[in-house]
Amino acid sequence: MKNTLIAPSVLAADFANLQRDIEMINNSEADWFHIDIMDGVFVPNISFGMPVLEAIKKHATKTIDVHLMIVDPDRYISTFRKLGADVLTVHLEACTHLHRTLQAIKAEGMKAGVALNPHTNISLLEDVIQDIDLVCIMSVNPGFGGQSFIENTYEKVERLKELIKHKGASTLIEIDGGVTTKNAKQLVEAGADVLVAGSFVFNSENPQQTIVDLKAITK
Ligand code: DX5
Ligand code: ZN
Repeated sequence: MKNTLIAPSVLAADFANLQRDIEMINNSEADWFHIDIMDGVFVPNISFGMPVLEAIKKHATKTIDVHLMIVDPDRYISTFRKLGADVLTVHLEACTHLHRTLQAIKAEGMKAGVALNPHTNISLLEDVIQDIDLVCIMSVNPGFGGQSFIENTYEKVERLKELIKHKGASTLIEIDGGVTTKNAKQLVEAGADVLVAGSFVFNSENPQQTIVDLKAITK
């Protein structure tokens, strides 16, 4: 039986009731908190920054998975460690010296993740996959919650899984964007280990039950 990790995206939470929503995740079957940081430059949206993550960390009792959608992420690696990140993911498209960035993240004691935009080919990871703890495949264009899932993702996950096996790496595959109970099973069959879900969880009538449903469908 496979234990697929579920990572609700706090971007879809009610920011006026953030503590309530954090406790909801604490008391649910979810595994990680997915935290989306956007700078309005790398993506056409600004989400929230350090003070909000600090507030989340005060209450969160699970792994903090930070997804940086920012240019030049090297500037903030140690800051995010101090704020409590356990996994720190940077975008391949934002890193000129990706190998160096990954080493810097690991030197701070975090798991190092790399996110790929929908148009970015898996083959670009061939020479660095052994240094990556997690690859986040974007199944929507980054910047907003609530977009619809890009179908090409399944094939991309399969190709990434092949590459990981071929290189003998232990990299986790995370899927981010438009995840629902409709596509979760096929994603896990293709090789996904972590499913991020924002609007599908928070906009549902019973978010904790929705997390249970996502967990159940991927077993
Ligand atoms: C998009 C973010 C996602 C987003 C997912 O740029 O990286 O994490 O919150 O939201 P849904 O699940 O609503 O597509
Ligand atoms: Zn994300």
